[in-house]
Amino acid sequence: MWILPIFILSSVVLSDAQNVEKVLKERQFLMEKELSMMLGSSIELSDSELKANEIIMDLKMNEIENGFLHPNNFNLSKHFFEYKDLVKKKKLYKVLKDMPKGAILHAHDTGILSPDYMVELTYWDNLWVCFVKGNNDIQFQFSKRTPTSSCASKWKLMKDARKAARSLAKFDADLRTHFTLVIDKPNEVYTDVNTVWQKFQRYFISSGPLLTYKPVWEKYYYDTLLALREDNIMYLEIRSVLPSLYDLEGNTYDPVATAESYKRVTEKFMNDYPDFFGAKLIYAPLKLVNKRTLQEYIKTAMEIKALMPDFLVGFDLVGQEDLGVPLKEFMPELSRLSDDIDLYLHAGETNWYGTTSDENLFDAIALGAKRIGHAFALIKHPLLMEEVKKREIALEINVVSNSVLKLVEDVRNHPLAAFLSLNMPVVLSSDDPGVWEAEPLTHDFYVTFVGVASRHADLRLLKQLALNSLFYSSYPEKDKLVHEFDIRWTKFIHSIVKDHWHGKNLNDRTFLS
Ligand SMILES: *[C@@H]1O[C@H](CO)[C@@H](O)[C@H](O)[C@H]1NC(C)=O
Ligand SMILES: [Zn+2]
Repeated sequence: MWILPIFILSSVVLSDAQNVEKVLKERQFLMEKELSMMLGSSIELSDSELKANEIIMDLKMNEIENGFLHPNNFNLSKHFFEYKDLVKKKKLYKVLKDMPKGAILHAHDTGILSPDYMVELTYWDNLWVCFVKGNNDIQFQFSKRTPTSSCASKWKLMKDARKAARSLAKFDADLRTHFTLVIDKPNEVYTDVNTVWQKFQRYFISSGPLLTYKPVWEKYYYDTLLALREDNIMYLEIRSVLPSLYDLEGNTYDPVATAESYKRVTEKFMNDYPDFFGAKLIYAPLKLVNKRTLQEYIKTAMEIKALMPDFLVGFDLVGQEDLGVPLKEFMPELSRLSDDIDLYLHAGETNWYGTTSDENLFDAIALGAKRIGHAFALIKHPLLMEEVKKREIALEINVVSNSVLKLVEDVRNHPLAAFLSLNMPVVLSSDDPGVWEAEPLTHDFYVTFVGVASRHADLRLLKQLALNSLFYSSYPEKDKLVHEFDIRWTKFIHSIVKDHWHGKNLNDRTFLS
């Protein structure tokens, strides 16, 4: 009897005003219903959180409304390199910097600290350098004597090269360019995914022997934990290819020893800073390899697991996904491994729909991955999105990384916007923030909050994202973690209200920047 309602409707004559009221009501209903589906919407804010929310939303609205009126002024729609320093001066950025952000669950160990930090490392004793003039490349090696490893020109002691330089400032500035992707006019130079990835990989190759000198390795990692703590992060799950380390005495250390060194430094750091909840390791070697190498990886993973069952929490494979070996090629090995070690697989870090890199998403889910790295392409797979939600597989989203590495030009078009509105299990992370000169996590939060999420998304989204990073971690005592987070969060809320509410009450809009 589907005719009946139409018959009834058409028999009732509504006035214009009644019609409008009816439509408006429906509009309101739809909008509220949809907003109630968004990530974070189930959080109830306390009275002080409501006040803090008003302050934060004033700051956010100011930026968005200005951008909506003057799109050319909305810097987040431009290249990250154009606004990364500018936004640090914004009040909202400072609030997000102070905000407890939970954990970083997707970051690669040798890409976290800044190029300035890397330049400082070149002041260490016993460092040799080889400038490969033709293709503007560089090699490093720590050694007591002239290194025996091949060099396309000539090994020089870094100290002597620096002394011989006409200008120290220029020397260091040139050196710095090897440790960053940041350049002027990035869109003209990095014309596609491959060009930017080539430069990205050159960073890892040339910085390798600088960082794998054991004393530097341990210092870099210790300072990474320090940088995270400063960015109000309480816990880390770090991905590493676990390279062999070396020292001046000619010793080399295998990947198992590298993992041990991470464990030891983590313990030292927690001893020095008991308010930090430590770190766990995800062994994540390169994915462009043959089966034999993969089997070696797996042997190493099992060895580490046996020695450090609580420290090694997972396995992954890394590298430019479009050019890597599809996960399905490694199905027998990965499926066997997943009985013993959790998988946290990169998958769908691509713009190519229906290709092997896109379809890695099917493999990751079928293999029982606990979380998926990037999952950028997931938005094109409605069934997989349902499965991800049902199986509570967290998506480790790295917005800034995806924009710098050329998957999306304007962050407003990042699929994260849809993942948030669909309440997908999202965690925000930062991948390799040092290489694009971002802070450990604050830039990713800022860009997400102002540039990606709905204008309506508020403090509840921020809190849920931070909480998600704890829920979806592999930390063994999550209650403890969440309890401590709550204490820090409450403190943070009170400090915002204390610093800003007075000005707000007086209707003094000068607190907006
Ligand atoms: C955007 O960046 C320009 C400099 O590139 C700056 O002058 C301007 O204030 C920024 N806009 C906003 C809204 O922050
Ligand atoms: Zn990654």
